[in-house]
Amino acid sequence: MHSFCYRKNELYCEGFPLSALVTKYGSPLYVYSQATLTDHYNKLDTALASVDHQICFAMKSNSNLAVIRTLGNLGSGFDVVSGGELARTIAAGGDPSKCVFAGVGKTEEEIAFALKQGIYSFNVESEPELQRISRVATRVKKVAPIAVRVNPNVDAGTHAKITTGTYANKFGIQFEQVAGVYARAAKLPNLRLRGLQMHIGSQLTDVKPFRQAVEKVAPMVAELNAKYGFDFFSIGGGIGIVYKDALASGEAKWWKTPEGRKVLTPQRYADTLLPTLRSLGLKVVLEPGRFLSGNAGVLITRVEFIKRTGKKNFVIVDAAMNDLIRPAFYDSFHQIVPLKKRGGALISSDVVGPICESGDYFAKDRPLPKVGEGDHLALLSAGAYGSVMSSNYNSRALTAEVLVNGTKSALVRRRQELEDIWSLESVAPWQ
Ligand SMILES: Cc1ncc(COP(=O)(O)O)c(C=O)c1O
Repeated sequence: MHSFCYRKNELYCEGFPLSALVTKYGSPLYVYSQATLTDHYNKLDTALASVDHQICFAMKSNSNLAVIRTLGNLGSGFDVVSGGELARTIAAGGDPSKCVFAGVGKTEEEIAFALKQGIYSFNVESEPELQRISRVATRVKKVAPIAVRVNPNVDAGTHAKITTGTYANKFGIQFEQVAGVYARAAKLPNLRLRGLQMHIGSQLTDVKPFRQAVEKVAPMVAELNAKYGFDFFSIGGGIGIVYKDALASGEAKWWKTPEGRKVLTPQRYADTLLPTLRSLGLKVVLEPGRFLSGNAGVLITRVEFIKRTGKKNFVIVDAAMNDLIRPAFYDSFHQIVPLKKRGGALISSDVVGPICESGDYFAKDRPLPKVGEGDHLALLSAGAYGSVMSSNYNSRALTAEVLVNGTKSALVRRRQELEDIWSLESVAPWQ
């Protein structure tokens, strides 16, 4: 359920017509709904209420300070993958003691920083990393809480670029090697073996791979817990969301849409996994990203030109792949709708940006209502892996971001000025 819907043919985010926001803040524009972030967090939290649990929002999906603050205020911790993300969490008022630190390439500086901040756990991705954490912890006279990230070798059946739980991926430590790694870790100084973690992939709409992975790993968790006295088992993130029927998914009966019928609800997720998890008697940690932020954001863009070739109707817009790279990177589908609803026949269109790459598109051969220069479109479900992946390619300024809360709106990232783009650069002294 999300808070983007048409009222009298105007697309709204909570109490605001999006057209009013674009008039106020300009285009392109990311808009986030606080009510949606809150609703999704509460749904997952409620589904897990019968076990001790901690949701750690995977802020790689959306690290805007206002998004972090919203979720932190609800009690969320954070899954961070860099010292930068941890610093951001702290800047937003997030609690480092509820942070887990993942990632295959943690530097010594990042480890020392995370130890100083008192994070909940490092999710360790290799044995050399474990040795490094022990070394740094000894140097800074701290005890590092750690969990090994197990790679359970379960195929999540999702897009190749967001599958992480098979041996063809760089993530985690092979299932068969994990017990040996813990045995060696137990002999290293300044480590506390606090739990075990896994994450098999992203945008999973079927509960089966989650169940397979949890059922495969749980007996090992029980054995290791008996030896080392764990606090938690983290089952990672990955809960999928609705993309194709995104608008309908905001309505009360969204699960009756074709995609809604397939999508995983927090209740189904919890009902399937909790019996196994409960029997372990450990805190359950989750690292959802997309599920919390995906449907909570849209990218608004203005139509610049309509260009017809013998084969195509191109709708050229002012947003581009530098603002939202998912279609180019993952072949992702984002539903595209006009801010002001129009009747009439649908026209097969390619929605493309102004960047000099053929990959700079948002939709291909998509039936869309007729639009013209100056109209605005919304790309839905853009709250996860959207703005965070944006770049200055083609010297395009980063877009502004706005948070809506009921009838209030606030600029939560100002639009970049052109001078900001090259502010870190200079010419060489001999030029
Ligand atoms: C370790 C880890 N946890 C959590 C996530 C969040 O995944 P999602 O946004 O699909 O929930 C990711 C995504 O890549 C991840 O690598």
